[in-house]
Amino acid sequence: MLINELQVKKEIIDGLESMGFTELTPIQEQVIMPIIDGKDVIGQAQTGTGKTAAFAIPVLNNLDLEINKPQCLILCPTRELAVQVKKEIKNISAFMDVRSTAVYGGAPIIEQIRKIKKGSHIIVGTPGRTIDLINRNVIKFDAIKTIILDEADEMLKMGFREDIEIILENKQNDVQTLLFSATIPTNVISLKNKYQKDPVFLKTNTKDITSDNVDQSYYVVKHSNKIEALARIIDIYSPKLALVFCNTKKKVDEVADQMIEKGYNCDKIHGDIKQSSRMDVLNRFNNGLINVLVATDVAARGLDIKHVEAVINYDVPEKEDYYVHRIGRTGRAGEQGYSFTLTSSRELDRIQSIERYTKKMIDMKKIPSAEKVLEVKKEKIAKDIYNTIRNEDLSDMLSLSEMLYESDTDPKEIIAALLKMNYSLKMEGETADLNEKIVKKREKYSEKSFDKGHRTHDRGAKGNERNLPFDKDAATTDRYYIAVGKKDKVKPRDILGAVTGECGVSGEDIAKIDIYETFSFFNASVALRKTILSKMKNVKIKDRIVSAEITRKRK
Ligand code: CDP
Ligand code: MG
Repeated sequence: MLINELQVKKEIIDGLESMGFTELTPIQEQVIMPIIDGKDVIGQAQTGTGKTAAFAIPVLNNLDLEINKPQCLILCPTRELAVQVKKEIKNISAFMDVRSTAVYGGAPIIEQIRKIKKGSHIIVGTPGRTIDLINRNVIKFDAIKTIILDEADEMLKMGFREDIEIILENKQNDVQTLLFSATIPTNVISLKNKYQKDPVFLKTNTKDITSDNVDQSYYVVKHSNKIEALARIIDIYSPKLALVFCNTKKKVDEVADQMIEKGYNCDKIHGDIKQSSRMDVLNRFNNGLINVLVATDVAARGLDIKHVEAVINYDVPEKEDYYVHRIGRTGRAGEQGYSFTLTSSRELDRIQSIERYTKKMIDMKKIPSAEKVLEVKKEKIAKDIYNTIRNEDLSDMLSLSEMLYESDTDPKEIIAALLKMNYSLKMEGETADLNEKIVKKREKYSEKSFDKGHRTHDRGAKGNERNLPFDKDAATTDRYYIAVGKKDKVKPRDILGAVTGECGVSGEDIAKIDIYETFSFFNASVALRKTILSKMKNVKIKDRIVSAEITRKRK
């Protein structure tokens, strides 16, 4: 739906258009009207799908600007998010006389009190500071019509349940309550049951939970080599902005320190960093002054950072949905994004459960060799030098340059010395091969299914390792092997097409198509075994005549 078709105050349309919005996102399309009509709503959509405007637009539309009292209270998990939500509201209401205040700990409360008392219509706050202001009788509920829990799942995960309940206990009975969340775990459901009246549950299709614009890959690397691997990936891809995720604050500190030591433009955000400096870091990242930002999931949650070219999972995320949130930070608005996950061979089953969760393949890549990285670095240095010659005024250096040139020293040596003085840090680095060897654990299984010629080290091992999580389905599912792979340019849809076409089964019957260099796998229900084994015989896929074989006997 187009923005100008929206049935809201004209000033809001103007505000949205001045922000460059032309169309509503799917979640916005679903929730705006029910919220305007006063319904309680649960809105579920993944990160970056415009949930902020989804509630901000109807709330702004419903404000009574004659009443200079808080009419809407929005609770957010972090201070940065509160500031960001306030900013988004400010932008949308650029042509309205609306006052909103963000309140959060770690900043002087007096200033916040002053702003609210001036007559704020909307308050955006973190739970702790909001309670504080309620207790001081600064935030009063007499005019509050709407309470919103933004990123509700995250707030509960962060232990704000009690605070949220204290706040919600203050509300009048007829207050509209809205829950926005990327996921709806049971603790969110229980909040809903306790505090919402006949809520409408609106969610956007989660089928395609990761964007097609993100090129996803992973690297198998030992823990001790991860920093060097991270450095090489950044060197090779040289993303303008890379967001690096770690599972703990401690790890964020370690990684950021080591990357800075290696000479990268790197900084970090996590919960223990002072709020003022967190905002500063974010601004610098958004302005391109930092290329590499290391963060925890919580600190980065909900933050809207544009043009992130690469998301790097320094640690494999603990939960599948974290992976989705993390990589959702790149490949937005039609841009191409990249995600790289560093995993040890022991964590490979985690990669597979992520693949199952997102229903997308993550490609295994090799960490680039030190020689390759060095080559790329040299090219970049040469490019920098030529750019400097082209774009900078060098006159103040020329006399010294002439003096050096006229001396007896070979100019090549002079240049080499200058390079050494300026770039030696950049040129250093581990030279070892960082790829971790994948140990073969279940030799027996693959023995029959791979013909000898196909068995190279990592492929066989990959087949073994990556099948582990399927064991629990083994009673109902067969895993098939088929001798066409990447080298034949085969795509999942080719295999899907062949199986559905030849066997007359539906696409939903085929799962987990994994394509390797010279062969591929897919899963299908045991009930289809007879059909598949008989029909998938000498079938042509990408100019190769192949047959499907079961890789593993049912237990
Ligand atoms: O809260 P959620 O993670 O769903 O996303 P957000 O923080 O609201 O970010 C959505 C981004 O898309 C913001 O940069 C918005 O300005 C932009 N956007 C939008 O929200 N709605 C549109 N119709 C178009 C763009
Ligand atoms: Mg949000």
